[in-house]
Amino acid sequence: INSEHVQMFKAHELLQKLYHHLLVHTKEGQQALQYLHQRGFTDESIEKFQLGYSLPNWDFAIKLLQKRGFSLPILEKAGLIIKNERDQNYFDRFRNRIMFPILDAKGRTIAFAGRAIDEHDSPKYLNSPETSIFNKSSLLYNLHYARSFIRKKQQAVIFEGYADVISADKAEVYNGIATMGTSLTPEHVQIIRRMTDNIIICYDSDKAGILAAYRAGTMLSESGCEVRVAHMPNGLDPDDYIKQFGSDKFRNDVIGASQTFMSFKMDYYRMNRNLQNEGEKLQYIEDVLKEIIKLDSAIEKDLYLRQISEEFSLSLEALKEQEREMSDQGS
Ligand code: GTP
Ligand code: MN
Ligand code: MN
Ligand code: MN
Ligand code: MN
Repeated sequence: INSEHVQMFKAHELLQKLYHHLLVHTKEGQQALQYLHQRGFTDESIEKFQLGYSLPNWDFAIKLLQKRGFSLPILEKAGLIIKNERDQNYFDRFRNRIMFPILDAKGRTIAFAGRAIDEHDSPKYLNSPETSIFNKSSLLYNLHYARSFIRKKQQAVIFEGYADVISADKAEVYNGIATMGTSLTPEHVQIIRRMTDNIIICYDSDKAGILAAYRAGTMLSESGCEVRVAHMPNGLDPDDYIKQFGSDKFRNDVIGASQTFMSFKMDYYRMNRNLQNEGEKLQYIEDVLKEIIKLDSAIEKDLYLRQISEEFSLSLEALKEQEREMSDQGS
């Protein structure tokens, strides 16, 4: 192990403890703690996820870590501090934010996500940059805790955000993971597939979330996973939903009532289309037929062809004929 990495891990561990202490036990952290409580974060969650608070100071981390013998260039490589190119002085990356420690699969803190407390502060989330110990395209938030539950349950739930994972955990959904605010990568898919083939996508119920669910679901099912998509009322995300409707409803009516990826796609192709319009209706039918072709099971094919035939008063024969033609062209 290289000693630079040891320093980087140690610095994260130390800071995580301090940020957590500041949040939970000091006057300076009171406002941040109150913000979390107002949002519905429990003390248990704050403890389990070791949430913290970074002071508004420009050099809190620098002073503390320097006093303990850490090298500033290494802290910069760790993404914890930034060098001002004009005067060559260092300053803390994270100031006046709620701190979410990011753990690797071994449970070591290797990065932070810092959430603004003031709604006007931008960006809303400030993340550690990529470093030699933090690779965003392979990191899954909460994997360290979720892994054993994912294996046991043979199911993983993917969320968009840290707050969603934490609220779901509070709602006893322990097999939740999230990407670092970026889209799902082939590396993520490989990591998930080593644990299970059954995935529930539970992204935000807004335009961006639905598009991301379509993309993630396509990747996952092309890699051989059984994908389902959870649905929430307009605009809500899982964290909002749990705050508004409670844990039981989340487990039963959202996770428990997730739809197959095929049925999600049929809704998806319908969005922003006026099916009263002849052209748009044909477009929709073509999109769905393209999906039906990809199905392995003849029974499933039949099921969805019948569904389309009934809804649009088309003869099953014509649809089957069209489906055959399209699959011949495709092969
Ligand atoms: P809350 O507002 O705290 O509930 O967060 P959220 O998770 O609901 O945020 P949102 O749905 O807007 O975004 C989902 C995820 O995208 C977040 O958890 C972050 O990982 C990421 N994200 C959101 N805003 C930003 C940002 O300003 N910068 C970066 N780098 N990532 C962001
Ligand atoms: Mn504590
Ligand atoms: Mn979102
Ligand atoms: Mn959200
Ligand atoms: Mn949210």
